[in-house]
Order: sequence, then structure tokens, then C-alpha cells
Amino acid sequence: MKDFYPYITNDGSVGLYSPEFDDIYHSTFGAYAESCEKFVLPAYIEYYITNFDKINILDICYGIGYNTKSFLNSFYSIDAIYSNNKSVYIKAVDTDKELVFLSPFFTVNAKKMPKHQNLPTEKVKHLSSGKIESQFSYDKFINYILVENLAAQFPDFLQNEDLSKYLKKRENKPYLENSIVKFYNYSRNAGLTRLFKGYLHNIYYRYVSSSYKKALKARKIADIAIDYNINDARQVILKDIKKYHLIFLDAFTPTKCPCLWTLDFFKLLYERLDDNGRILTYSNSALVRSAFLNAGFYVGKIYNERTKTFTGTIAAKNKEFIKHDLSEYDLSLVKTRAGIFYRDENLNSLNEAIIERHKKEVEESPLISSSKFIKQYRKEHNNV
Ligand SMILES: C[S@@+](CC[C@H](N)C(=O)[O-])C[C@H]1O[C@@H](n2cnc3c(N)ncnc32)[C@H](O)[C@@H]1O
Repeated sequence: MKDFYPYITNDGSVGLYSPEFDDIYHSTFGAYAESCEKFVLPAYIEYYITNFDKINILDICYGIGYNTKSFLNSFYSIDAIYSNNKSVYIKAVDTDKELVFLSPFFTVNAKKMPKHQNLPTEKVKHLSSGKIESQFSYDKFINYILVENLAAQFPDFLQNEDLSKYLKKRENKPYLENSIVKFYNYSRNAGLTRLFKGYLHNIYYRYVSSSYKKALKARKIADIAIDYNINDARQVILKDIKKYHLIFLDAFTPTKCPCLWTLDFFKLLYERLDDNGRILTYSNSALVRSAFLNAGFYVGKIYNERTKTFTGTIAAKNKEFIKHDLSEYDLSLVKTRAGIFYRDENLNSLNEAIIERHKKEVEESPLISSSKFIKQYRKEHNNV
């Protein structure tokens, strides 16, 4: 298993640092809170529960699954699902199987920071404020649903030695949810090569705890299918024919992973989005907004009521879903060089090639540079 270094973020959920990429996977402000505030709250899931019996979700860059977990947690908190039969299909896509396998095990409710966050370099030692201020958390029964889906789909999940070693490492313990690790080990030791739903029922009953009971009840109330796809999101979505009500786009920043922010990828997402669907992303970048607009979407900003800031971008086919329009400033920025989007017509270019091509296009562009535009704009608007 790669070295994923966990750390507790400011909301008590776990973030990961990867020395391979020398980068963090999650906001230090709060990994789980970010999912709630940037992806799930602005998704208005009550609307989908009210209007559809089957809800399709596409979680692009699932990682350790915060967006899926946050969605499921909100789903179970809505009364309407208890009186109607609802089913949820989640297509979870990520290139990294190790991360996906780790997704059920991390705690989301750490009460205090570990004395030493075991991070390897000075650069990342100061990742969190050292204080936990929890605004959001989820019920851990969601993790059982994840384990069940992973075990049913991947024959090697329960037998995975690397995963088992990671879960046993003493230094990883403060970051893991002990009861889920126990449940996983129980399932391994029972020698279940294939975990059928019936088996799982028995295991739940033997290990009765309130969380197991809740997981059981939750399964009866709604039919949840998480379909894991370990592959490049472009290839997975190209082969797909489903229409999605919600698409969470949580790729690394455009400069690191441009292949998931291109005009051509967004055109593909346009085909896969239901007419009443929403795409949510944390990016505020002008080139991302420009690519969404050029792919045919209505585009707006995500507003966070708590922090009173704009924290991302929403794209939709239905204009009414745009609650916060792009401002005159945002739209003007889109028309500068900063709005020149990435291209990948065949949906198979390497990130490096996409960046190289984009760089050339920006250099040769007759458009005004963003810095010049910003200077001019400030002058015209009295330095605002
Ligand atoms: C910012 S992290 C996502 C965090 C995630 N949503 C979570 O809750 O942990 C970005 C993810 O993109 C994945 N990734 C990178 N390139 C990809 C690609 N071409 N297709 C699908 N996933 C990709 C990485 O493996 C990584 O897990």
C-alpha cells in the first residue's frame, strides 16, 4: 500500500497526505465539512427525494468517499424516505483502489487531536489548527453500507493483506473507526470469500449494536447500490449510458489533473446529466466556469451561508437551479486568458500533454491577461 499519512482535520474527520504527490487530498479546515458544504448542502437532495423514486449519483474522484458518505447521511436524515420506497444508485469512480478500500475505516468523529500527527515532512506538519470544531459528522452505520458494497463487489477486499496491515499499524489507530475495523476482521476471519447479502445479515445479528441495527434498518428502508469503478473517470463515463441527478466533481485542482476539467469532459457530463440534474464542484476557477459555459450548461456560484462566502461552482441544464449567478466580474474574467479552457477531444490525453497544449494556446492568445484585466477593473471600480 502507498504511504497515505492520515491527519485529523479541524472538524474531527481525517485528511490524507500523499508523499508520492507531495500533496494533501483534503482540506485541513475539515475534510468531511467540505463535502457537506460544497457538495451535499448545495445539491438540494430533498428535491430529488420528493420527485424521483430512483436517484442516480455520480461521484467523480471518490477517494475515501466523503461525498458519498455525506450524501447518504443526508439521505437518511430526510423523513420522506421512511414513507416511500426509494432507491439510490451511486457510481463511485477513482483510479486508486487502495484509497477506495480504505474508505470505510477512517473516523469522522475524532474528539481531540492526537499529540503528534504522524506527518513525514516539516512542510505538512502545520496542516491543522490543532483544534477540533465539529460542525458536521455522520452516523457510522454508513460505513457498514460501504463495507457491504465493497465486499460484494471486490473478491479481494476481505483478503487484502496490505489493507489489513495498514489497519493494524499502531500509528494509524487514532485515525480509524475501531468498530468497523473489528467488523472487517471478523468478516475476514470467518473466511468469507464472497460476502452475500444473507451472510451479512447473520453477521449483523451476531454483532448487534445500535450501529449494526441502524445499518440493517437503513438497508430495509432504501435500496442503496454503490457501484465502484477503478479507472480513469473519462473512460468509465464514456462507456456509461445512465443519466445522473447529481454529479460530484472532486478532482485535484485543474493544474494538477486537467483531464477532468476539460471542455470535452464537460460535454460528456452534459450528456450524462439528467435535465433536472446538478453538477457540484469546489472550483471557482475562471477556466472551469468557461468550460462549463461552453459545454452548454447554466453556471452559477455555490454560496456558503455559514461563512458568507462563495465556495464553488454549480452547473445545470435547468436555469432555475442557479441560485447565485456569476457576477459581471466573474463573466468578464471568463473572457480573459484566465478563461481559456483545457481541451482533450479524444478524452485520452495525458495531463502533461493537456497542460502543454493549454500553455501554448494561452501564450498565443490575443485576449487580455487576467492580471491586466484585474488591474483595469479595480481602477474602474475604485479599487474594489
Ligand atoms: C481530491 S481527491 C478526492 C477526494 C475524495 N472526494 C474524498 O472524499 O476523499 C482526488 C482523487 O482523484 C483521483 N483521480 C486522479 N485522477 C483521476 C482520474 N483520471 N479518474 C478518476 N479519478 C482520478 C485520485 O485518486 C484522488 O482520489
